Amino acid sequence: MSAFNQTIKETAGLVEAALDKFLPTQDGPLGRVADAMRWGALDGGKRLRPFLAVAAADMFDVSRVRSVRVGCAVEMIHCYSLIHDDLPAMDDSDLRRGRPSVHKKYDDATAILAGDALLTQAFEILAEEETHPDGAVRCAIALELARASGKAGMVGGQMIDIYAEQKDFDLAGVTQLQRLKTGALIRFSAVAGGIVGEGSKDEVGALAAYSEDLGLAFQIVDDILDATSDAEALGKPAGQDAEMDKATFIKLLGMDGAKSKAVELIDSCKAHLDRFGDKSAPLKGAADFVFERKN
Ligand code: IPE
Ligand code: IPE
Ligand code: MG
Ligand code: MG
Ligand code: MG
Repeated sequence: MSAFNQTIKETAGLVEAALDKFLPTQDGPLGRVADAMRWGALDGGKRLRPFLAVAAADMFDVSRVRSVRVGCAVEMIHCYSLIHDDLPAMDDSDLRRGRPSVHKKYDDATAILAGDALLTQAFEILAEEETHPDGAVRCAIALELARASGKAGMVGGQMIDIYAEQKDFDLAGVTQLQRLKTGALIRFSAVAGGIVGEGSKDEVGALAAYSEDLGLAFQIVDDILDATSDAEALGKPAGQDAEMDKATFIKLLGMDGAKSKAVELIDSCKAHLDRFGDKSAPLKGAADFVFERKN
């Protein structure tokens, strides 16, 4: 295993243990939604977003207790977005992270509620004092997450993504769609690491520039994998974008054009981290990981 894969695996282990504590099983009528939240959030995924949060926070010597909490918050939002993305009313995907998606394992209503509860709990975690003793810092992180998740972020991107099925988009349109749908939470992850580390405006700005390019590259690679891989390797259905006529870079630039665009973005994202010197190696490694990943 490469040194980077080892590092992301270690962080994923910390995140898994923390999520397990945040999402206990429960007896009685609430047990079903508690189980569905666990099904949607535990034991799966690359945990890239929490990795970005923790690796960015590490550059400012933030304690892992704090940074893992920020990582768990963004992972909960991400998992909620996946649960809802898979619903019949959206992408209608039965498979997620190599197992039945939440609405298949439970039912649509439970999946909607489990997603809602993960979304809400993310903000609960950020608001708690253990995340940072300074209420202003906690509030700044929560504000960023609210903006990255809502209409001006992920939710807005998902709305355009659905609308884009019926309308032709140019390059600027697809870029905006991807920046919102996927980019916003990836941007949040790195930026939040800088905020919890009380970095300067310029330092947080550099993390923002890095993660904006990275987020776009991430979704381009997701689209390339959708077009070229299979459900077994991906752990989710393949070929859905072409089937649903989704607006992707591949549709506009062709496969080679999309790949070159991703390579360009991976190079440019790393350059934004040069000011941090050797400390930025894990975040630079994350950029290569995003490009080389197979799922
Ligand atoms: C999938 O995200 C959804 C997109 C935003 C493209 P990931 O590829 O990070 O999914 P997991 O968390 O590893 O399952
Ligand atoms: C969804 O994008 C991104 C989210 C906000 C969940 P996709 O629909 O391409 O994600 P996958 O391919 O199902 O993971
Ligand atoms: Mg989708
Ligand atoms: Mg989908
Ligand atoms: Mg996809």
